[in-house]
This record gives sequence, C-alpha cells and structure tokens, in this order.
Amino acid sequence: MSDLVFTVQPGGCLKGELRVPGDKSISHRSIMLGAIAEGETTVEGFLEGEDSLATLQAFRDMGVSIEDVVDGRTRIKGVGLHGLSAPSAPLYLGNSGTSMRLLCGLLAAQDFSSTLTGDESLSGRPMGRVADPLRNMGANITLREGGLAPIDIAPAKLHPLVYDMPVASAQIKSCLILASLYTDPADGSTEILEPAPCRDHTERMLRGFGYPVETDGVRISISGGGRLTGCHIDVPSDISSAAFFLVGASIAEGSDILLQHVGINPTRIGVINILQAMGADISLENQGEAGGEPVADIRVRYAPLRGIDIPVDQVPLAIDEFPALFIAAACAEGTTVLRGAEELRVKESDRIQVMADGLDTLGVKHRVTPDGIVIEGGNGFGGGHINSHGDHRIAMAFTMAGLRAKKPVIIHDCHNVATSFPGFCDLASTAGSTLQAAEQQED
Ligand code: S3P
Repeated sequence: MSDLVFTVQPGGCLKGELRVPGDKSISHRSIMLGAIAEGETTVEGFLEGEDSLATLQAFRDMGVSIEDVVDGRTRIKGVGLHGLSAPSAPLYLGNSGTSMRLLCGLLAAQDFSSTLTGDESLSGRPMGRVADPLRNMGANITLREGGLAPIDIAPAKLHPLVYDMPVASAQIKSCLILASLYTDPADGSTEILEPAPCRDHTERMLRGFGYPVETDGVRISISGGGRLTGCHIDVPSDISSAAFFLVGASIAEGSDILLQHVGINPTRIGVINILQAMGADISLENQGEAGGEPVADIRVRYAPLRGIDIPVDQVPLAIDEFPALFIAAACAEGTTVLRGAEELRVKESDRIQVMADGLDTLGVKHRVTPDGIVIEGGNGFGGGHINSHGDHRIAMAFTMAGLRAKKPVIIHDCHNVATSFPGFCDLASTAGSTLQAAEQQED
C-alpha cells in the first residue's frame, strides 16, 4: 500500500487566471441523461475525475456506446429510456455517492437485475434514504445490514409517489426524478417536496433534453411517458473545486486570482454568499450561460475575514464547501458558528469530526456540536500531520491552510483528490501554493 502525501510549506499567496475542472454533479448527469436519451449527446468540459468516469463506465457496462473522453469532450450514443442492457457483473461506482444514489432510481425501473458496489467509504454511507422512497414507488431493492451497499436491485413496475423529503438532498431528489421517468402517466405525476432548495441540475438538464419538469419553489412535479432527445452539454467549471481557491486567495495576503467559467447556479453559491458575509473580496465578471446553467468568471482578492453565524439556509447551498469554509473560519477574526449541518457527518468522511481533528493538529480552537462546529479564528495555523481519511475535499482544504501556517502542513491519504479534481497539485502550484505530492510506502 502507498500513501499519497501532500506537503505544503508555510506562506505564499495565490495569483493568476485559473480554470478548475468541470462540474462533477453536471458531468454525472450528462452521462446518465445522454445514455437514456434518443440520439447523440455531445459533452464538453466533462470532468475526467474518477467519480464521473465511474458513471461513464457503468453505462458502458450497460451497453451504451460512449467515446473515450479527450480534453473534456465525449459523445454518447443514447439508447432511449428502455434501451439499457443488463450488466454482466456488479457495477462498481468507486467513491461516488451521486453515482450510486442516482443509479438506484434509474435501475429500479429496468427490466433486469443489477448490483451496485463501491469503495470502503461509499460502502459505509446511508442508502436507505433512496431505497425507502423507491420501495414506496414499488421498487425491489435489497440493502446490506445497516442500510448499506452493495445494493441489489430486481425488476419492478414503479408508480408515482408524493414525497416530502426528510433531508435537503439533491441525490435523493434526483434519484426519485429518474425513477419517475418510468412511471405510467395514467397513474399521475410524482411530486417531491424539498425541505430547502438544493442543487437543481437534474431538473435543468432534463429540460435541456426536452423533457418537461415542473418546479415551483421547493416543489417538483414530473410524470413518466416522455422522451429525452440528445443534445449538447457544455459543463461549467465546478464551484466546489473553485472553492479551495476562493478560500486560499481570501486568506493569503497579496492574493489576486480570476477563476474562469465557473458554474454559479443559485443552488450552489452558498460558498460565495458565506465568504462575502465574512468580508471576502469576491466579484463576478463576464456572467453568461452554459448548457442551461449560469456561469461567470470569479475574481478573488485577499481581504481580512471576520467570523459569522452561518445562516442555516445557506447550508444546503454550500454543502460540499464546508471543509474549505472551516479553513476560512480559522483565519477569520472572531467566532464562526455552523449549525444545521448534520449531513456533513455522512459525506465521504464525517467532515465535522475529521476537519475538527485536523484543526486540533494545527492549533485552531474549536468546539464540535452534533450538527456543526464553533471555530475561534484569527490565529492562523501551526503545522503538523493531518489525516484526510481519504476524503478529497478535506485534503484540498488543508492544502490551503498551508498559506497561513507557521510550519509545514503534511496531509496524508490524498489519493481520492483524483475523484473530483485531477490536476489539483499542478494548478495549486501554478497559482502559488508550495504543495508537493509524493507517494510514500506504508508498512
Ligand atoms: C450531489 C448532491 C450532494 C453533494 C454531492 C453531489 C449531487 O449530496 O454533497 O457531492 O450531485 O446531487 P446530497 O444529495 O447527499 O446532499
């Protein structure tokens, strides 16, 4: 076994124009919807990370012809809603919760059986949250003890559902939307109520494929019986990947960066709203649209930050950005309080605890609560060894801490950075981080 270790020397700042890779959520959906559309779908800006490539491979395993991705471009020969074929082996989805949960909805409606598996982290994440409502639609799904993967799915006829989602989760919502495509329109429509708005890429993209979806605030209504028509998808850069640079430039004196062509969907910009409320100097330039999604270049210059009470309504809009935001909070003058974020405990790692452990190592005062954390900021970071627990976003967040550290920050278990951000080390170095990555042999 080897350990990928990131070592960051203290100090420095970020400068220049950068383009981070394509949006992970949109890349997954481009393959899924392209595969079940009629005709060809072309994609540009596709994220060549392990997670979205796992989705691509899963659809190849179900007989869909998809060109190798070259420079973010690929071409999918859609097979239509009923054209997928039975995979000959379990579908392996690596580290990707999005892939597994969305596929559950799609596969529950097929006339073949399938099994979904993942890596150690994914095999420990809750799957009852999608299996339960799908069973209410008539699905035949078996989970392992504790509501975990591997997931066995047998053929079933699905009927529409009225569902009040217990958690604000785009994965649950999207899973049910995909399942509802296969319901009989004569049985009515599926109605989903979100407890708070969460990312709406599935709804937007379905419309781009010509499939009607009605939305009214936090209520989504969709019926079966339609068809998707292949189209072109321009995937914007991922704001979740941009977030590390938004934070890095905000905390390191002298920084001034421009992040190009980033998706600024209102359901994803919690990180910008929160950082601005903390005093960050962030502005949007060149606003436009790509593939039904709003995009902009984001300019970030260093500015002193202050601690805030993070508004609870921003939590689902920044759900993947809290590792980076904890680093910002540690550099902010005063106290930052996060509440209503218990979902962070069931991400690729328990992000509240794993971040808290790393903050401890770097000498940042904090108090963990069941649904959040209180961080006393303003003293920068010491240095030391951090265990990312194989969580890509934790590894990248602590890389940015190096910019304000007094001693080297050494981050372990960083292989999974490749799930969402291939090329992170090179881009961070180009921008001014002293990050060095090295494989170390473990006993
Ligand atoms: C995602 C939804 C979010 C997010 C994940 C991607 C998606 O998960 O954390 O990284 O693409 O739908 P939840 O639905 O569990 O909040």
